[in-house]
Parts: sequence; structure tokens; C-alpha cells
Amino acid sequence: MATPVTNVADLRELARRRVPRAFFEYADRGSYDEVTLRENRRAFERLRFRQRVMRNVDRRSLATTVVGQPLSMPLAIAPTGMAGLQYGSGEIHGARAAAKAGIPFCLSTVSICSIEQVRAGTDVPFWFQVYVMRDRGFSRELIQRARAAECSALMVTADLTVQGQRHREIKNGLSVPPKLTLRNLFDIASKPRWVWNVLRAPSRSFGNLDGHIKGADSLTTLAQWIAAQFDPTITWDDLAWIRELWPGKLILKGILDPEDAKLAVAHGVDAIVVSNHGGRQLDGAPASIDVLPYIVDAVAGGTEVLFDSGIASGQDLLKALALGARAGLIGKAFLYGLGANGEAGVTQAIELIRKELSVSMALTGALDATRVSRDILWKG
Ligand code: GLV
Repeated sequence: MATPVTNVADLRELARRRVPRAFFEYADRGSYDEVTLRENRRAFERLRFRQRVMRNVDRRSLATTVVGQPLSMPLAIAPTGMAGLQYGSGEIHGARAAAKAGIPFCLSTVSICSIEQVRAGTDVPFWFQVYVMRDRGFSRELIQRARAAECSALMVTADLTVQGQRHREIKNGLSVPPKLTLRNLFDIASKPRWVWNVLRAPSRSFGNLDGHIKGADSLTTLAQWIAAQFDPTITWDDLAWIRELWPGKLILKGILDPEDAKLAVAHGVDAIVVSNHGGRQLDGAPASIDVLPYIVDAVAGGTEVLFDSGIASGQDLLKALALGARAGLIGKAFLYGLGANGEAGVTQAIELIRKELSVSMALTGALDATRVSRDILWKG
């Protein structure tokens, strides 16, 4: 009998065995020396809960709202590149699992399934994450496509104008669409389930970028695409241009400094995501959870504060809520569930986190996820 999956670490282990190495490590690893990647975990592990007892914790509420949308729990799926190569049609699986769980799914610009394919695969509106490209006409077109697909929020990623190098992408010869090479032949051949699902999927290359990749055949890595296409000249003034194109809810992702958080408030965004991009961008930056309280204080209620980078359990999520996040986003935990078992694996990741959150709330005496405060943590 198979060993039961009891936590996200088990899903990671399954994904490690089921997904070809280049794609698993794309999801799993960080930039440069991975100092920030490790720190994201360590910082969570350093925080300690206060255990409280005798408080009648039978009735607990996990429900909340984010940018005006009701959520069954304070969690969303972060935009992640190439989810459709962790598991064929991965973005559709993710969107469906999120919809069933009552939480938002955010589709990445550099997804494998396109905005339209995900729209066709789910009834529930999802969020769309946009990168600002040198070709502003293309960014405009992406935002218009997100509007046409009735996406319920636009997330602008601010911390990836140039890419922090991930050594594993280069060492593994990561390529999109996946190519059978001498180097990966045995790896791919030993994962027939992965091959079958990828072959059945509506897309195997960057779905949103069709027709916008010069020399599509020669595109090998995400890094190459980013270097050629992403606009490093973007400034705060560009938010006005995005606002004109997108009258709906606007979320700015990649804030890691209180001064930037104040600027985001001044520019009227509906929410920010405190994030170091899961340790994939500026190596040596602090853990997101360590800067979160400073940013919450700086923002002073001027915008909603969301959080990502390192959430691997409901306990981590509760710590982020305690330090002032309205909700947390999962990137890696989502991709591990997806790589392990498609939609069912994503559902499993979400439900594990939901249960861990609920139990940890009970044991800290917290009844309502919208009212969790720093009081549930030991100070110092
Ligand atoms: C893209 O957002 C990445 O982190 O690879």
C-alpha cells in the first residue's frame, strides 16, 4: 500500500519522482547561492506560536475577502511560470482545483496554457499576472486578453525586470517546448505518465506568447525570453498606463521594502504582495516573512497586504496572517501538488494547508482568520 500523503513535503517528494528533472528543479530551486531561498524557510521556522487553552475553539472561521472577492480561506495560488510542464494542462488543473476550493488562481504571463485555454477550462474567473514588456503593444494586448477572459484581478510583477540567474536552469538545459536530448532521454523516458499528460495538453510552449516569439524554434529558455523581452525601464509612472488599460482590481507583486510599499499606496494599488519571488530573484534579500511586519506598519491600512515566499504549511500561513498579511500565496506548494498528481494533487496541497491552518488556529486560540494578530506569536 502506498504511504499516505500527509504534508506538502510528501507532495514535493512525489513531484520529484514524477516530473522530469529540468522542470522539477525549475520549480524547486532559487537564484544564485539560494541564500534567500533557504532563509524563507528558516525565518518561518524561527517564529514561535503562543499556545492558548480553554477558549472554546469549536467554531472557527477561515473565510475572508481579498480585493473585495470572497475566499473560503486566506490563500491564493501564485502565478508560476510553466506550470503546464509540471503536469500537462497544469494551469487548467490549478484553476479548477482553486475554483473548487474557493480560492483565487493567478495565471502567469509565462504559462504554458494560454489565457483563453484556461478560460475555456474553468467557469470561475481567475487572476492574471502581467509582465511589462519592451513591446508595450504586446503588454497592452495581454491586458486586453485578460479583460476579454473576464479575469477578476490583474497582478503586475515588479521584481523581475531582469532575471536572477538560476544555475539549475542552465545546468539542466531547460528548454521550452521540451526537447528530447541525449541528456534528458532516460529521465523523460522513465516518466511515461508525465509524457502522456503533456502530449494530451492543448499547449507545450508558452501559450500566451504565440506569434510574439521571434524565431520560436530557437527559444530555449525562459531566461532568454526574459532578457530579450522584459522592460527594465519600467517605473512607478507606468502604473498610470496600466490603470488606463485595466479599470479592475490591481495587485502589485514583489514588494520587499517599506519605502516601496508606501509608494505603492501612493499610486493607489488595491493590494501588494510582499514577496522575494520565492528566493528566485535577488539572492541575499531577506526572507519575506521577516520584512512583512515592517511593510504592514508602513502601509498603515492604505492597501491590502498579501504575502508569498516560503509558505509550505498552514502553520506558515498562520504566521504570515499573524504578522499582518491578509492572505498568503503558494507557488512551490502548488507546483508540488500539481507535479505529484495534477488537479487532485493541487486540491490535496490546498486542503492540507487548510486543515493545518484550522488546527493551528485552534491551538493558538484564534477563531477568525481575519482577526489573527501578532498576539499569537512569542515576541523576541
Ligand atoms: C518566473 O516568474 C520565474 O520565477 O521563473
